[in-house]
This record gives sequence, C-alpha cells and structure tokens, in this order.
Amino acid sequence: MTEPRFALPGMLVDGAWESVGEKGQFEVRAPYDGSLVAAVPAGGPADVDRAVIAARNALARDDFARTDRIRVLEQASAALNDRREDFATAIALESAKPIKTARVEAARAAETFAFAAAEARRLAGEVVPMDASPAGAGKTAFTLRVPVGVVAAISPFNFPLNLVAHKLAPAIAAGCPVVLKPASQTPVSALLLAELLHGLGVPAGWLNVVTGGGGTVGDALATHPDVAYVTFTGSSEVGWALVAKAPRTKVRLELGSNSPLIVDASGDWETAAAKASVAGFSHAGQSCISTQRIFVHEDIADDFVSALVTRVEGLRVGDPMDEHTDVSSLISAGETERMEQWVKEAVEAGGKVLTGGEAEHLPGGVVFRPTVIEGMPATAKVQCEEVFGPIVTITRFTSFDDALAQANDSRYGLQAGVYTAEIAKALQAAKTLSFGGVLINEVPTSRSDQQPYGGVRDSGNTREGPAYAIEEMTEIRLITLQP
Ligand code: SIN
Repeated sequence: MTEPRFALPGMLVDGAWESVGEKGQFEVRAPYDGSLVAAVPAGGPADVDRAVIAARNALARDDFARTDRIRVLEQASAALNDRREDFATAIALESAKPIKTARVEAARAAETFAFAAAEARRLAGEVVPMDASPAGAGKTAFTLRVPVGVVAAISPFNFPLNLVAHKLAPAIAAGCPVVLKPASQTPVSALLLAELLHGLGVPAGWLNVVTGGGGTVGDALATHPDVAYVTFTGSSEVGWALVAKAPRTKVRLELGSNSPLIVDASGDWETAAAKASVAGFSHAGQSCISTQRIFVHEDIADDFVSALVTRVEGLRVGDPMDEHTDVSSLISAGETERMEQWVKEAVEAGGKVLTGGEAEHLPGGVVFRPTVIEGMPATAKVQCEEVFGPIVTITRFTSFDDALAQANDSRYGLQAGVYTAEIAKALQAAKTLSFGGVLINEVPTSRSDQQPYGGVRDSGNTREGPAYAIEEMTEIRLITLQP
C-alpha cells in the first residue's frame, strides 16, 4: 500500500491523540490525482460526547489563564509563519487549492491568530453610568465579558486552515473550550494546526478535534446539550438546518452567496476585468465570496467582456502543486458533473458560453475550465444559485438603479462589489445594496482577516473576524455594587 503523504497523530480528545475513531479510519485523497494524503480517525457520536464532556470539564477547571491564552495565540501565529510551506502543501494536496494561493491562506491564518491575540489583550467590559437614572442612584456598576461556554466549530473544505483559525483563535481568546469538526474532505490542515496548538501547551480539554464524515459528527456536536455556541461555515441548507435542530443554542452561520460585481460606465473597467479574472476563479470559484454575477454597463460591455475573456483564457489549469497553476480540480468529481449540468441548463435557456464550459482531462487529473456565460435568464442556476465553481455570468445594463436591483435580487447577501468613478453612485450603492459588505472599486472576493465578515438573508446570521467573533463568544455579565 502507498504510504500517505502525511502521518498524523489522530484526533484530539481531552488532551490525548487517538488514531482510530468509533468508526475506524477513513482515507483523505487528493481531489486532483486521487493520491493518498492521510488516513484519519472516523469519529462518531460517542467520540463527540467524550470531547464535549472534556471541554465542559476544562471550563469548570478554569485552568487556561488569559496570559497563557495570549501566549499560545501569539506563538501559534509565529509558528504558522515559520511553517507556512508545510501548511500550504497540506492545503494544496487535500483541497486542490493551487500552491501559490495555499501559501496566501497559510499566511492569512498566521494573521488571524495575531489579530485574536491582540483582541485577547484588550477584551474587557465597561463601566455603566448607573447614576444617570433614579433607579441606579448610589450604585456603581460595570460589566464583565465571560465565555459563553463550550464552542462547537464546524468548518468547510474550501479554506481548510484559515476558516479553522477563524473559529479556534477567537474561542481561545474568549476563554471558550472548543470541539472542532473539520470538513471530512480536508481534515489534514486542521489536525496539523491542532498538533501545533497542543505542542504550545493548550491544557487538556480546551481544544478537541473529532474527525469524521457525513452529517453524524456535525449533528451530534451541534445538538449536544453541553454545547453553548455553534460556529458553522458551509452550505446554507446544512447551516439553517442546524439552527432548527438546536433551537436553544447560539448557532452562528457563515454561509454562501452568488456575489455580484457591478461595473458602471464610469468605472475603471480594465482593473475590474483584471481583478474579476482572478476573483471568479481563485480556488476554482470555491469561495463564499467568489465573484459570480457580473453586471456591466452596456457602453463598456464589449470592451470589458473582451478583456475578461482574454484574461480568463490565460489562466493556467493543472496540478495544484505546480507553481504556475491558477485553477485546479474541484473538490470532487460530483462537483465537476454539477458544473457541466448547470452550464447545460444555462445554454438550453438561451445562454452563450464565451469561454470554457467543459471539463478538461489532463494526464494527472480533471479540471473544469474557467467559464464565462452571457445571456442566460435570471432563473438559470448559474445566476440565481451559488455556483461554488469556476463560472461567472455577464448581464448588461443601461440603468444603474436597475443593476442595483438585480444585484439585490438574490436569496444571498454576503459581499457585493461596485466599480464606479462617481461618488454619488458609490454612496447610492452603499445604501441600497443589501449585503454584509459593499466594496467600492473592489471585487466582492476580498477579505482582510480583521474585518467584520458575514452576510444577510441566506448567507448567514453573524460576522466573523476575531474582534466580532470574540464578542459573539462572550456574554455580558453585569456587576452592581451598593455600598
Ligand atoms: C469563505 O469562503 O467564506 C471565506 C473566504 C475568505 O476567507 O477569503
């Protein structure tokens, strides 16, 4: 049997590594060439139960002081930087993210920990001006920010390291013990991160990782009675179902979108085309903020489309470990088939494929070609659903108001981008676009790890970014003093 690329210690429960789960082990295979990346434990509900109880006990012991938590966060940030190449390799192999983009993700994860460390230093309540009302006269009051309790973290495959960091780092900063369930397709980066954190001296029970497939581990975790807070990133369907399954738990969701980009006639369309040719296809479009629906003003549409298609055709497809690859495989063969079906549906409904539209069979693997489609109706799946693949659509407009209305006409609302040189239109877009973020003269596929990040409608119900996640993971406790 071929040796796996990574030898991992297993999953982490109550400070101990376990190489086999309740259901044995499962193989993680590279989406590009099917090679064996790692064998990891297949956990189940009983493993989840032990992990949550370990976390509950850790919280009761209260043996992870804020100074230690700050030290761990700072050292984790430094270690992630030092070991960036190891982490990038794991990300690239397990998720087929091109290595040059995987390096960016590893660097971002180091920043996420650094931001969480800074927040952990300043996390504090506030003084309440009790003497401002008769009922408070004579009292002194202040608030404490206390950990919400055990955090269940469920992370997706598309950013297997940094979206784990966006859950673990704030939880550590807030003083919440965590049980993490990484995506079953991509648990390797998460286990390497857990190994790193464990090595820095996180006490037993404060960080637990249960790996496993299907919905069993995730459901058992999200619905466990001792879990106080669920942080979930993934599909809308699974996310909102968790809210229904755990109605008394704070379930915080960061979900998908079909992000719009509006390019007005006054906008810098050349920059917009250059950026969109990356933003629609980075990690094969498998990002919640991937640029998907492009609305372009009729006056510049021909120039914009021609520049975009030329650049998209220049993207290199291939092996994620190749330094020159821009776009590699989707996470599974099933996703490639879905792309084919969605393109077919759009074409049957009147859409025209300007480039791409089919899978390319390379000697090492299969890559869905970066695709641009124009002329499909608003009801085509590539337009009204989240594609989560390397497809962007073009819709021409003559009225800016109409473009804003079409961008808003979506069940999703994560981030929107607008290129315009007119300040009035920029302000109109900022007011009118109903999204978690409106980015002026930027594509929607842009995130700095300290910013508030999250959406409205089906895109979620929270904001991530260490400062915002820490606020969510803590509660206000009021203390009043009466002499
Ligand atoms: C996501 O897919 O939601 C994360 C995007 C990012 O962090 O860049």
